[in-house]
Order: sequence, then structure tokens, then C-alpha cells
Amino acid sequence: MSDYAPSTKFADQAVGKAALYDEAAADHEGFWAARAREYVTWSKDFDTTLDWSDAPFAKWFVGGELNVAYNCVDRHVEAGNGDRVAIHFVSANDDDDRAITYAEMQREVAKAANGLASLGVEKGDRVAIYMQMIPETIFTMLACARIGAPHSLVFAGFSADALRARIDDADAKIVVTSDGQFRKGKAMPLKKAVDDAVAGTSAKKVLVVKRTGIDVAWNDDRDVWWDDVVTPASDTHEAVAHDSEHPLFLLYTSGTTGKPKGILHTTGGYLVQCAYSNAVVHDLHPETDVYWCTADIGWVTGHSYIVYGPMANGATQIVFEGTPDSPHKGVFWEIVQKYGVSILYTAPTAIRTFMKWGHDIPEGYDLSSLRVLGSVGEPINPEAWRWYREHIGGGDTPIVDTWWQTETGAIMNSPLPGVTELEPGSSQAPIPGIHAEVLDDDGNKLTDPDAVGYLVLTKPWPAMLRGVWRDPQRYKDTYWSRFGPDLYFAGDGAKYDEKGNIWILGRVDDVMNVSGHRMSTAEIESALVSHDKVAEAAVVGATDPTTGQAIEAFVILRQDAADAADSADEGGELVTELRNHVATQIGPIAKPRSIMIVSELPKTRSGKIMRRLLKDVAENREVGDVTTLADSSVMSLIQDGMKSSG
Ligand code: WTA
Repeated sequence: MSDYAPSTKFADQAVGKAALYDEAAADHEGFWAARAREYVTWSKDFDTTLDWSDAPFAKWFVGGELNVAYNCVDRHVEAGNGDRVAIHFVSANDDDDRAITYAEMQREVAKAANGLASLGVEKGDRVAIYMQMIPETIFTMLACARIGAPHSLVFAGFSADALRARIDDADAKIVVTSDGQFRKGKAMPLKKAVDDAVAGTSAKKVLVVKRTGIDVAWNDDRDVWWDDVVTPASDTHEAVAHDSEHPLFLLYTSGTTGKPKGILHTTGGYLVQCAYSNAVVHDLHPETDVYWCTADIGWVTGHSYIVYGPMANGATQIVFEGTPDSPHKGVFWEIVQKYGVSILYTAPTAIRTFMKWGHDIPEGYDLSSLRVLGSVGEPINPEAWRWYREHIGGGDTPIVDTWWQTETGAIMNSPLPGVTELEPGSSQAPIPGIHAEVLDDDGNKLTDPDAVGYLVLTKPWPAMLRGVWRDPQRYKDTYWSRFGPDLYFAGDGAKYDEKGNIWILGRVDDVMNVSGHRMSTAEIESALVSHDKVAEAAVVGATDPTTGQAIEAFVILRQDAADAADSADEGGELVTELRNHVATQIGPIAKPRSIMIVSELPKTRSGKIMRRLLKDVAENREVGDVTTLADSSVMSLIQDGMKSSG
């Protein structure tokens, strides 16, 4: 037996059993109907499991009604678990650590719901949330779910411009934010970006949590303190049931064009799949486990595996406001030791960073409480997988490498820790109830283990996106047209190995994955081109040992700027200016690692930029086939420039 088969001890206690695969294979809809009734409390039972008659527009658990906040909070209190800790809030500012039980959570969510209602938020209104990893972010999300007002979280590292675009697209009625956030021990402004973003938008109210106490500008007609509106509000609130297909949230994600897409998720199917997958993939035993997903709530992983899945299951979890290196590089392991974390779900980029820092750091802590490790966001290279297993997992802890997307809403491909014999580096196979295949260009399933194709989901699943906000055509074109109207094209390249495991090979579109964050080349290019010195820009994702990919930009200056740069030799300053410009347009995470000023870009005769060649340059490779270039000398010009600029 391989070292990677589950131990009998683990398998015996595992939530996910092999029988689930058989059950799902026998009856797709019947399987999900059973999970829906197992994991979720319905105020009104559904009558049809799946309506796919208007594919690709799906309806799951039709006729059913439920309240997500009731499922995530109240029902645990009613079941006698009100004293169980829902979240251990852990902050890099130690004094702020606190434990919040499910009973307290119920009161906090009720207050937030009453507070939002008093500001005019009603069922169907969109609420933008621009806030960091603090308990109030969770209270607000669940309060929105309670009211039936879809939330739209905007990662607190995005710029004012990015925030405004998202408020506008969703027509958000209100923005919830905080005065500031702690970054590596320092209070940094946050509300300021909201002040810059909301003017002239649909958002007429800004609800502000006091987190750091730093000075903020105040607009009396618009701004209200959480402490004045939510804190004194009643701590009871009636949860009314919403239709299974009522919108739960929007989450914007980068696509192949410059404009981010508002991915729409709805109520019933999303909650069912989040709760089920969290139970069987993370092997969650809510009575005994301490679970920690290190993602930021502003990304989908935080939505599904901090808020909705684990809370529907009544988990006790860590919510950490901090970074892996602050206040010191052992902080993750200190938290694991202090709270007895048993399930850890993190990203390959973090694992590779820990590897770089050295195993003697985790070795200084007692990590024996860990019994399941997870990975998400990008492919995990086998070397990092083995390091994770050895140095964090004590050599025998199962690792679940979970492939999924903002659009899929919940985990799709992953081993089941009590069932699957693991394969380092591969997310292996769809979990029970999910159907994924690797197809070739013509839509045939790959048979040759050396061939490379595309990952396609062949049956609808409960947590699937229900559309792109206000853009049904884009929904169809992006996901449901490459292989046919009911085959979902994920945008990832993939292959099978000899054992039939699926290996994800990365995006096949113009989307980069930097530290597990999706960035679109087009979005960064348009940010660069919006600078008045830039005529044209091309962006590629180059392989990076720590962040997976790094953003490399090639920029052509406008003539006057180019002349000035030449004469004053101010190329270095200009590059800094352009990097900062991208940070203002999108956010610091979108800053290119390097920007190269070039005089030409490689283009085909039809004018399409050949990013493949720029990628060769950025990754220091021999440049590939240049015969389709309109002007084949361009590449040698760029490479010469690269050498001279070091
Ligand atoms: C990539 C994050 C390989 C993939 C949940 C996908 C992965 C994109 C994995 C979605 C994994 C995510 N192995 N690649 N385990 N998990 N990806 O929307 O390219 O931020 O399409 O969702 O991340 O990123 P998103």
C-alpha cells in the first residue's frame, strides 16, 4: 500500500465515505436532494431538485425556501450549541483577540440586520462591503443574507477606483467599511478609499466600523458610525425565508476583458454544496475540530469556507487579522499550537513562502493537533505538497488539494481524505456529485495520459454561478459556448495521468494567478494605458517560484514621454510612477513585478499582441516561433533592451 493511502484510523472516523461516489453515480439529482435535506434546514421543502430546461440558466431546489443566516447561526443555538465558539478572532494586535460564541453571533447578526434595515436596506438591495478580516465583516454578510439583500464584498486591498466600478455595476445602496485596518502593526486608512469612491454613485449611506481609531473625514449626510446604528439596535431579528434561487451575493472576478465580472450566487444550492463539501473534504467534526481557513473574506474562499460552509456546519474556527510574517514568521504555527487547530486550509503561495523561510520555524511549535491540511487557489507543486505533509502535517496528515473557482462557488475536484489514495500535486478527481472531464479541442474526452486538454464540467452543480450580473450574454459566451450549451468551460488547461487523476495546468485564457489571486492581463493593460505617458501596454504572467506567477509589463511610451525619458534618463522613476498608477487604478496586488519600456510590441499581422513571445522573454527562455509576427525583428529589439536594462 502506498504511503498516501488513508490510514484505517482516519478512514473509520471520516465524514466522507466511498459509498457517496456510488450514490452520486446512480442518481445525480437524487444525490443532491439527499445532501440538501441533510445539510440545510428548509423553511419550506423544495419540490424539484433541478430545473435545467433553460440551460445554462439553472434553478436548484425549486420551490424551496430557507434563510441562510438562520442556517449558519440560529439553528445551532436552537440545537443547544449556543455556547460553542463560532469564531476565535485572532489579531496581530493581541489585545483585540476575542472568542464569539454562536449565541453572541446570533445577537450580533440580528443587530447588524436591524441596523442595516434602519438605514433603508431591504430585500433585494445590494450592499457593498469593503472591510478587512474582522468579525463585523461576518456579521454584515450574515445580516445581508438574513434580510435577503445580496452583498458584494470588495477586497480591502483594492483601490478607490476598483471599488467605485464595483459599486456602480451592482448599484449598491450602501457601503459598509471601517475607519482603517492594521497592516503589520500599523493603522492604515480604509474609509478614505470609500470617500473617494462613492461620490456620484448609487450608494447614499456609508456605515463605518471603528477599528483603528485613526482620523477620518466625515460627511454628516452620508456617513454613520456602526456604534451609533448597529450597537444600540435590538439583538433580535426575525429571519424570513427566501426563495432557494434568491440572490445571495455578487463577487467580482477578473476575466479576459478589462471589466471584472459580477459573479452571481444564489441561496439554496450554494449553501448546500458549501456545507456538504466542507464536511466531506475537510472532514469537519464540528463538536471537536478547530478549523482555520487562512483566506481573506474578500475572496470566494473566504465566502464559502470561512463564512457559509463552516458556519452552516456549526464549526469553531479561527479568523485571523494579520499576515503570515507579522508580528513574526512563526505566527501561523503559534496560532495552531495555542488554539489546537485541527484543520488548516491555506494556499500554495503561503506554503512555498514557509518553505523558503525554513522548516526550523514550524518545528519550534507543537503542531500535533493538525489532522487535515488543505490547499486552494493554484496548482501546488509536488515538492511544496511533500514539504507541507512532512513539516506541517508530521508526515502522515492527509492533504486535500481542492480545485474550484469563484464561479463554481464551492469545491469541485479534491480527494476525500478518508477515501482517496493521495497523489501529490494533483487535485485528482471530482468529489461525489460533481462531474468533470478533460476534453480535447474537439470536445472528446482525452484518453492519452500525455495529451493536454481543457477542464470541463459536464453536469450542473448546486453552487454553480447563476450568471454574470446584468450580462447574460457574457455568461453564455464565457462559460457555455466553447464546448456546447450545457458543458461548462472552466478556462483551465488539464490532463490525466496513467491512474486517471486530473492535473490542473493553469489558465488557458488571459488570466494570471498571482499568489492565488486572479488578475486579468487586460485589466492591468488598461490601467497602464490610462496613464497619460503610455501609448500601449502588454502584460504577461511569468512563472515565479513563490507567487506562482508574477506580473510582467511591457510598455510603449507616447512620443513626448519617450523623448523626455531618454533625455533625462529617468526610466527608473517612470517605472515607479507607472507601478504606483496601477496600484491606484486597481490595487497594490496588481502592481507589475517589473515594467519594461519598449519601442515595439510583437504583433501578428492582424494586430493581436503575441503574449506567448513576451512570456518567453520574461521567463528568460529562447523565444519561440516568430514567423507569424508582422515584423520579426521586434523580438530581438525587445531582448536587446532587456539585456541592457539588466
Ligand atoms: C486556479 C479560487 C490548481 C484555477 C478558489 C482556477 C487551482 C482559478 C486550484 C480560480 C487548485 C484554484 N489547483 N489550480 N487546487 N484552485 N485554482 O476564482 O486556475 O480565485 O480557474 O477561485 O484558480 O480562482 P478563483
